[in-house]
Amino acid sequence: MSQSDQSSEQTNQSWGGRFSEPVDAFVERFTASVGFDYRLYQHDIKGSVAHATMLAKVGVLSLEERDLILDGLEAVRADIEAGQFKWSVALEDVHMNVEAALTERIGIAGKKLHTGRSRNDQVATDIRLYLRDEIDAVSAELTRLQQGLLDLAEREADTIMPGFTHLQSAQPVTFGHHLLAWFEMLQRDHGRLLDCRARMNQSPLGAAALAGTTYPIDRAMTAELLGFDKPTENSLDSVSDRDFAIEFCSFASILMTHLSRASEELVLWTSAQFGFINLPDRFCTGSSIMPQKKNPDVPELVRGKTGRVNGHLISLLTLMKSQPLAYNKDNQEDKEPLFDAVDTVKDCLRAFADMVPAIESRKDNMYEAARRGFSTATDLADYLVRKGTPFRDAHEVVGKSVAYGIKTGKDLSEMTLDELKQFSETIEEDVFEVLTLEGSVAARNHTGGTAPEQVRAAVKRARATLES
Ligand code: ARG
Repeated sequence: MSQSDQSSEQTNQSWGGRFSEPVDAFVERFTASVGFDYRLYQHDIKGSVAHATMLAKVGVLSLEERDLILDGLEAVRADIEAGQFKWSVALEDVHMNVEAALTERIGIAGKKLHTGRSRNDQVATDIRLYLRDEIDAVSAELTRLQQGLLDLAEREADTIMPGFTHLQSAQPVTFGHHLLAWFEMLQRDHGRLLDCRARMNQSPLGAAALAGTTYPIDRAMTAELLGFDKPTENSLDSVSDRDFAIEFCSFASILMTHLSRASEELVLWTSAQFGFINLPDRFCTGSSIMPQKKNPDVPELVRGKTGRVNGHLISLLTLMKSQPLAYNKDNQEDKEPLFDAVDTVKDCLRAFADMVPAIESRKDNMYEAARRGFSTATDLADYLVRKGTPFRDAHEVVGKSVAYGIKTGKDLSEMTLDELKQFSETIEEDVFEVLTLEGSVAARNHTGGTAPEQVRAAVKRARATLES
C-alpha cells in the first residue's frame, strides 16, 4: 500500500453505536485487511456501482442519490489512481475506506450505499470479480506459452534426442515430441483454469450478511451488470464459499508442478554434462566468483516458486476446514495466499512464455547422447520378434549385444554384422535400417508416437484446439 495511514486519528464509526470504548490500537491493526485488500478497489467500486444502480431501479435510492453515488465513486477511483487517496487502517478494509471517502465527498447519499448489503456479500463479490479478471490474464499468458511451445515443437520435429525413463537413456525421441508432452500438461491446466472460471461466475451480491435482505432487491440485475452468469442460489453459502479460491490455487499448484518439471529439464539440459540446449544470456545470470558460470536462474526460480504456490493451496484448504456457516473473520485470510498465487503464476508464465521461443537446441549433442545410450536396443528386439524370435529370447539376445557394446565401446549400430550374429543367427544385413536413430523414431508412426510426421500432425491439431 503506497499511502497508508499507520496512526488512527480517524476512528471507525461504522459500529460506533454499540461500543463504549475505542478498539485497542493493536487489535485495530491486527484485524485490519486494508494493507492487502486495497488491491480490490476497482472491483469494490464496480460492485458498488452495480448495487447503487439496482437500488435506484427498485426505488430504494432516488435517481439523484444514485447519480451522486456514481459520480462520487468515480472521483474516489480517480483519487486512488492518482495516488492521492489516504488509506486508513482504522477503517479496516478497502470496503469501508471507499465508503467513508464517498460519504466525505457527497454526504448523506454516501451513507445510503450500504443499504441492503453487507461487507460479507460485498467481499465475496469483489474477490470473484478480481479473480475473474486475473483468470483471463493468466489464460492469455498460458496461451502465449502454449503457442510458443507449438512453434518450437514444429521447428524441432526432426531433432533427435534420447528419451529417458529413470533418467537413463531409454529410446530415441524427437525434441518436438518432448515439447509436445509439456504442451499437453499445460492444456489440461488450461482446462482446469477455465472450469474454475465457469463455476465461480455467479453473483453472491444480495446475500447480505448471511440471510438475504428485506429490501426489494433485484439480484438478477446486479448479476447481469457485473457480467456474472446468474445470482448464487443460497445466501449462507454465498458469503462463506471460498471454493473458487481453492480451485484456483489447485489449478495453480498443478500448473507450477508442471512448470517445475519443465524447469528441471531445462536446468539439466543447459548443464555442460548434457549440453542439449542453450538459453540466451538474458535468461541467465553469472556467478560473482566463478567467471565461467552461466546459471539458468529463471527456470531454477520457477522451480523454487512452486513451493510457495503449493503452500498457498494448503493454507486455503486449512483456512476453510471445519468453518461453520456462514461468514467468519477467518475468511479475511483468503486474500494474501490468493493474491500471491495469482502474482506468482503470472510471473512464472511470463518468464516461460518469453523464454521458450528463445531455446536453442544443440542438435549434435542431443544426437550423440541418443547414440551413446544403446537407445535402439528395443528396436533390435522388435526386429528379432518380427523375424520370429519370441520376445523374451529377443530381449536376452539384445541384452548380450549391449553387454558386448559396453565392453568394446561400440553402439549397436557400430557393430559389424558378424559381431551381431554372435548373439543371433537371425540377424541379417537389413538390421542396420532399424538400428539408426532416424529409423527408430520414424517407425513409431501412430497417434501420440514420436515420429516427426506425427509431431507435425499433433502440432496442427493442437493449434486448432488453441484457436477454438
Ligand atoms: N475485510 C473483511 C474480509 O476480508 C470484509 C468482510 C468483513 N465482514 C465482517 N463481518 N467483519 O473478509
